[in-house]
Amino acid sequence: MKTLLLLALSFPLLAKDPYFFEKPYLQLGNQPTQDSLQLMWMGHDKDVAFTVEYKPANTWLKATPKQIRRVDFTGTDAHRVYAATLTKLKPGKPFSYRISADSKLIFESASIARKTANEASHFVVFGDCAANTKGQREVAFHAAQHKPDYIFITGDIVYSRGRVSEYQTNFWPVYNADQADPTQGAPLLRSTLFTGVIGNHDSQPIVDFDKTPDGLAYYLYWAQPTNGPMLKPGDKQVPELQGAAEIQKKFIDATAGQYPRMANFSFDYGNVHWTVLDSNVYVDWTSEEFRTWVRNDLKAASKAKWRIIGLHHPPFNSSKVHFKEQRVRVLADIFEEGKVDLVLAGHVHNYQRTHPLTFKVEPGFVLGKNAEVPGQWTLDKSFDGDKNTSPKGVIYITTGAGGANLYNTEQNNDPASWQEFTRQFVSNVHSFSVIDADAKQLTLKQISAEGKELDRFTIKR
Ligand SMILES: [Fe+2]
Repeated sequence: MKTLLLLALSFPLLAKDPYFFEKPYLQLGNQPTQDSLQLMWMGHDKDVAFTVEYKPANTWLKATPKQIRRVDFTGTDAHRVYAATLTKLKPGKPFSYRISADSKLIFESASIARKTANEASHFVVFGDCAANTKGQREVAFHAAQHKPDYIFITGDIVYSRGRVSEYQTNFWPVYNADQADPTQGAPLLRSTLFTGVIGNHDSQPIVDFDKTPDGLAYYLYWAQPTNGPMLKPGDKQVPELQGAAEIQKKFIDATAGQYPRMANFSFDYGNVHWTVLDSNVYVDWTSEEFRTWVRNDLKAASKAKWRIIGLHHPPFNSSKVHFKEQRVRVLADIFEEGKVDLVLAGHVHNYQRTHPLTFKVEPGFVLGKNAEVPGQWTLDKSFDGDKNTSPKGVIYITTGAGGANLYNTEQNNDPASWQEFTRQFVSNVHSFSVIDADAKQLTLKQISAEGKELDRFTIKR
């Protein structure tokens, strides 16, 4: 009895890391540069003198850690977010880093520096993931086996409301697990740059801080570029904040300008240009200001070898679930004009690939809140991604099988239930996309949570 009591008393102390509230992870940062990455971690709510060293080549360099915010909302223990910018990294080359506190080494890991436009890149994409499921942990484990340069999450990053407390149970323990194990996840975040876009579970049209006082955690934990359309709290194209005014203010202040600016952005990694768009219902993508931003962003990236759009709601989807939410079709003309190669989405919890296509919105159509945008598509059915590798049009991928419960498994073997534009549809297993982009070709492989290849196609230049 005495032993049991001792165990019960000491277990929480043993389980709690003395220095880390959450272990280190890598981000692009708000103003990314080719030779830098942002190393971030969380400490407990007390003063600690952390030091950071990293080794881009032969010698160790020092980076200066800064406490960038304190997170103190009902529903979670108060903690502090730290960041250190690692500069002078050698493009595409591995580097080590280590963190000390109280003059004691407390953590070490390694990663790879961002690649340049002349280098091939290799990355993993999945969405709809941190739901604390077996499928999520298996996807994380198998994704890590592919050793990606980086990972992009196509939204619905954390279930079910993108809260600080839900990150603690569903996100960090799986993607920053100490061991790679299909029943746990993998030590990905500490070794692999994570990027992504918000979905409807991360950012709702109305965020009521009386109900979810630790909501919109995306804006507290991620550090992504802030080069998208200028947005500020209270704007039409952002979530409406409700609830206690002092908590709203505390949240906005804590994000230090990231909310709501970090909803849309673009970046380059290696030979790929990414345009990342918030496709939630509060954004009107028929707005001329927003359309112009996307058009100009793609125009400025005309020299990139490959152009990819990352967003949450699929513009072309055959699943019966969420069928009426294909609103982002209104951007198809801009994607075509900007020579986009792939549009990668989530939201629908399965894998789908369209034929290469072009789309004309029905004249006079007015966008509503939930809509399958009517219009006419032209499909390139001769493209097979194997012998014919020159697509006429944009290929739309739904890769939303990253962990949350699967949708429409009954449609897996029922092509008659698919829309005419759908070429592949796999809904009976969790999965993720592995993309290899070099100067001459881009190959996408869809891999199951058990590590088996489900689909593959190649685009050649
Ligand atoms: Fe979603």
